[in-house]
Amino acid sequence: MKNDTRENFGSKLGAVLAAAGSAVGLGNIWRFPIETGQNGGAAFIIVYIACVLLLGIPIMMSEFFIGRHTHTNTAGAYRKLAPGTQWKWVGRLGVLSGFVILSYYSVVAGWTAEYTVLAVGNCFEGKGPDTFPAIFGEFVSNPWKPLVWMFAFMIVTHVIVVRGVKGGIEKFSKVMMPALFVIMLVLTVCSVMLPGASEGLEFLLKPDFGKITGSTVLSAMGQAFFSLSLGLGCLCTYGSYFRSDTNIGKTALNVALIDTFVAVMSGFIIFPAVFNAGYAISSNDIGPSLLFITMPNVFQQAFGSMPVLSYLVSVLFYFLLVVAALTSTISMHEVVTAYVSEEFGMNRRRAAAIVTVACSVVGVFCSLSFGPLDGARLFGMSLFDLFDYVASNIFLPVGGMFVSIFTGWYLDKRLMRDEITNHGTLRVPYLRLVVFILRYFAPIAIGVILFNQLGLFRLF
Ligand code: PHE
Repeated sequence: MKNDTRENFGSKLGAVLAAAGSAVGLGNIWRFPIETGQNGGAAFIIVYIACVLLLGIPIMMSEFFIGRHTHTNTAGAYRKLAPGTQWKWVGRLGVLSGFVILSYYSVVAGWTAEYTVLAVGNCFEGKGPDTFPAIFGEFVSNPWKPLVWMFAFMIVTHVIVVRGVKGGIEKFSKVMMPALFVIMLVLTVCSVMLPGASEGLEFLLKPDFGKITGSTVLSAMGQAFFSLSLGLGCLCTYGSYFRSDTNIGKTALNVALIDTFVAVMSGFIIFPAVFNAGYAISSNDIGPSLLFITMPNVFQQAFGSMPVLSYLVSVLFYFLLVVAALTSTISMHEVVTAYVSEEFGMNRRRAAAIVTVACSVVGVFCSLSFGPLDGARLFGMSLFDLFDYVASNIFLPVGGMFVSIFTGWYLDKRLMRDEITNHGTLRVPYLRLVVFILRYFAPIAIGVILFNQLGLFRLF
């Protein structure tokens, strides 16, 4: 591999924003509220935050330093660090996860684009609660419309990935991440000021620990991995573009903080507004449609008497989703593209084209599972749900478990110390804690949660 010709992020801020761009996405604004709603609110959020702190940050640091040390794609990184062993499969599992997630993620990303257009065209104005399920239902079951948007999304992602790391990914993230933050702040203020918002706030802030079960814990862990883009080598690939003076611990902490903040902020945007509009929170009402049926109605009900505000808020909201989704699809695409290009010695353009076409083909089936393939079930789930469940709740935690075993047990301790302290130039007082987590806590905790939930044994 020609390390000297490989691109790097141009600045430390660029690196943080690109990684945060990967982490912040539909996982925060679409999936987090759904999981929170289905798993009982505040108690879920507490378990989620524990997973981010105790598992997410140390594993993110591992991915970063594996990437930066090897300067290559995720599968190549394991091959370099553990030549002739089976560790390369961890990298390959990551590439497969990236491929699977990108395929169904771009379907929802496409929906956000359609809804942005609807919002811009002022199509929600004056509509009542009964119309939104029909609008959404008609759209997703239309055989071609969601597909066109999915392809469009895939193509934009493709173009940015082909432009490369500094000119494409970093530049885009540097503009879009701050913009996203501002939009979210505006929306949060609007939402918490609504009449009746306090019920929503209570749901988010008052934990009922009786609601925590094995499946809550698995969902919180899966959500943490999904939201932080962990366990599939995405951040390992981004780490490979870090410069040698990037502070890995600080970057991981910043990314985790930004990501968690945005997720919680989404909760503050969505739940007060949902309660204000009089929707009951029960797991049956909350699903992929939360943002597409509930939210447009919320905008009408909450701001209906102020049409201009209602218009602006809806446009901002869906535009925000598009941006957040795009910085994430780019990162998934990059994992698979870097793999195909570097492992098969292909130029980036060609590798990216192959990835785009292959993901689009699989994406078609995920998209159609809301329409013509609606009745098709595998293990009792639609293809879309199955992909989401398997990738987030199984592949990503398994990937994360192997990353922690690899760095905690297989790699030479000095390598980790050198990378995290930038060869002794940084003081990292929490290094021993990170090592302890990676060696003992993370593999055991992830293993127990996974096996418990998969029914291999039952502890709780
Ligand atoms: N973290 C992204 C989000 O929250 C999704 C993602 C998962 C991106 C895995 C890359 C890898 O939307």
